[in-house]
Amino acid sequence: MLGDFSYCNPTRLYFGENALDNLAGELAEYGEKVLLVYGGGSIKRTGLYDQVVSILKESGKQIFEVPGVMPNPTLEKLYEGCEAARTHNADLILAVGGGSCCDYAKAVSASAWCGEDPWEKYFERGEEVDCRVIPVGCVLTMVGTGSEMNGGAVITNRTEKLKADLEFGESVFPRFTILNPRLTFTLPRYQMVSGIYDIFNHITEQYFSGEDDNTTDYIAEGLMRSLLHSSRIALRDPEDYEARSNIMWTATWALNSLLGQGKSTDWMVHMIGQSVGAYTDATHGMTLSAVSMAYYRFLMAYGLPKFKRFAVNVWDVDPAGKTDEAIAGEGLDRMEAWMEELGVVMNLRELGVTEDMLEGIADGTFLLTGGYKILTREEVITILKASM
Ligand code: NZQ
Ligand code: ZN
Repeated sequence: MLGDFSYCNPTRLYFGENALDNLAGELAEYGEKVLLVYGGGSIKRTGLYDQVVSILKESGKQIFEVPGVMPNPTLEKLYEGCEAARTHNADLILAVGGGSCCDYAKAVSASAWCGEDPWEKYFERGEEVDCRVIPVGCVLTMVGTGSEMNGGAVITNRTEKLKADLEFGESVFPRFTILNPRLTFTLPRYQMVSGIYDIFNHITEQYFSGEDDNTTDYIAEGLMRSLLHSSRIALRDPEDYEARSNIMWTATWALNSLLGQGKSTDWMVHMIGQSVGAYTDATHGMTLSAVSMAYYRFLMAYGLPKFKRFAVNVWDVDPAGKTDEAIAGEGLDRMEAWMEELGVVMNLRELGVTEDMLEGIADGTFLLTGGYKILTREEVITILKASM
């Protein structure tokens, strides 16, 4: 554990079947104007919308709504939310939905009062938040992103064909999040497995970096083992509460900044996947699964000791009498077999990617430096081609 860091996570979580009972208590901490943000209608179909609205009304709140937050929220939609937050002078933004709604709420929180274009300020110039921040609370209905307990907000700029992760500090983290695993039972299977792969990839993005003996890597291995175990149960029975609750809890720890502490972290699957998302608007987790095997098979040679450890500690590969390459390769084979078992998308064509998009996707891929190999643009193209 060689890295120096400071760690604080300010989000209060309420976890369990009765977690929503805590919403009223939290609402009492904020003023009366609540901006309720939600997606394309799932919360109306499940009855959650009615439940939340009645709690808001009983708490004496004035409710203003921004419905229709789409998966992969756009910059135009962000402008709309900022306008609504300013017009109604919102005291709290309550996101009810998946990672897209939580991300969106945080982006509005940091942008409504920033007095300039948030894309230019936070993405192009990489500035810190220095304006009034509107507190955010979340009621999570889709598991995967970790957005419920972190400062990330991924926004898609359709004009520039860029999908960018705006990373905000503690002031923008959700103040509270309600996590009731039962709310995820209504997710279509496609979304459930996409979220499961998203979780797994959040862990590997942080695990595959560094050569030091790092406590965080042991935590990562435990989380991956739990996820593999619970995912197999959830595949057989999506209404197994124990499995779904473990998956929800793993998702939160996979990306609430804990696993990145003391590590450089990789994130190149996400960088490539996000650029694919900018071109296709595909489901986030599927953009990751589609490029993962090509990427990790390429990366293996550059981080062989960690890939060997991954094979043995996560996939129970028996190392006896085998070369390091064979052990590491067997680990990746088992990972691929698990992905197929999940039924996630394993190639880019299925997401609508065509050959003529590859150059643009490579251009939109941010090349990060924390992993075992700093990719060149040509290597990104090679990985994209191998993912077709
Ligand atoms: O819009 P509605 O009608 O609510 O339907 C949603 C949406 O179509 C549906 N859904 C959600 N909960 C449901 C449900 N349907 C039935 N029952 C439920 N209980 O699921 C669909 C996907 O929802 P979305 O919120 O888009 O999914 P997810 O949670 O995967 O969020 C994806 C966004 O998060 C970003 C992604 O890039 C993407 O924009 N990410 C955010 C991160 C962060 N903040 O740290 C990190 C991640 O790597 C990721 O990049
Ligand atoms: Zn992700």
